[in-house]
Amino acid sequence: MVERADDPWGAIRDAVVAVSDGFVRWVGPEVDAPARLLTSATRTLDLRGGWVTPGLVDAHTHLVFGGNRADEWERRLQGATYEEIARAGGGILSTVRATRAADRESLLASAEDRLTTLVDHGCTTVEIKSGYGLDLATELRMLSVARDAGARAGVTVSTTLLGAHALPPEYRDDRASYLDLVCREMIPEAARLGLADAVDAFCEGIAFTPAECARVLETAAAHGLAARLHADQLSDGGGAALAARLGARSADHLEHTSLAGVEAMAEANTAAVLLPGAYHFLGETQRPPVGAFRSAGVPMVVATDLNPGSSPLGSPLLALNFACVLFGLTPAEAVAGMTRAAAPVLGLEDRGRVVPGARADLACWAVRTPAELCYWMGVNPVTAVVAGGEVVRGAADG
Ligand code: NIG
Ligand code: FE
Repeated sequence: MVERADDPWGAIRDAVVAVSDGFVRWVGPEVDAPARLLTSATRTLDLRGGWVTPGLVDAHTHLVFGGNRADEWERRLQGATYEEIARAGGGILSTVRATRAADRESLLASAEDRLTTLVDHGCTTVEIKSGYGLDLATELRMLSVARDAGARAGVTVSTTLLGAHALPPEYRDDRASYLDLVCREMIPEAARLGLADAVDAFCEGIAFTPAECARVLETAAAHGLAARLHADQLSDGGGAALAARLGARSADHLEHTSLAGVEAMAEANTAAVLLPGAYHFLGETQRPPVGAFRSAGVPMVVATDLNPGSSPLGSPLLALNFACVLFGLTPAEAVAGMTRAAAPVLGLEDRGRVVPGARADLACWAVRTPAELCYWMGVNPVTAVVAGGEVVRGAADG
């Protein structure tokens, strides 16, 4: 699909997509396809009237973790809140205990399973954050497990260091020393070893202050790493404006973002990563200011936020459905939010569109209209997934 003013989907009917050496070489109606595209060595996939989209880009996940938090969720169903559980040492810190205790092989096996589920649903690029280690060794282990999971699954994994996710118990009375550890050891080591593509921080009352997050993201920039920010999820802490001021690629969550925050993001071209799975799973009622993002021209991205505490969501398609039903995105906005709007948040300008020269990351679907990608709930219409020109799912030749 390509962008066209008269058609939000940019659809080309009865189309051919020609791929070689991992890149899209030609896209257009079959009747116009140059004869030279088809040689005796050409392998064809006949999609029998199905649709092709760019491979989905899930730009915000925390899918490397030990254990899970089903028990905590049951307590929340009885009335306990996410913040109460976090302040009592559960929440993120309970996953930190399980992740520190997990050996590398089991961490990798469970991460690979979750990544495989996303690929089964059409993802070819997935961002994965650390943030359940909160010590140097475990944070680096999470990042290297994320990279290995991507290599095993045959898709692109973009990694983000989230050392500033929560204050670990051993630093309970010494926030400044923990921030020193993040800024003087974790960020430099992750950058030196090439294990992180970006750095994120959780700006929230139960996590880190705007000043603390600013220090972390400024350190990231000094090490050549891109910035992201968990902002305004549970309260308006001015996170959106902070992300904009620091030149972050995105601010994420944003349920409580003010209009001033939206304006600052528009000005700085900071994307809004919307995470309706977390909104749904935490039973939130305050929606992000989608109308304001739309009119200010802030790019809207949709992601699963796959994590054990606030969004145990393994279906990018259900995230698209939630984005439409809960947040009021149009289906075309939602799909753009997991394709062409999502790739730049990861600095990956070579994908997210099906155009000549783009990386050949494609998802093929048995649907009659692309709106159906957002319409079905718990149904997976994927027929094939192509990553870097390789068929990674549904290899049936036509
Ligand atoms: O994106 N908001 C902070 N971090 C995650 C949740 C992490 C957790 O609860 O384990 C999120 O929602
Ligand atoms: Fe998150």
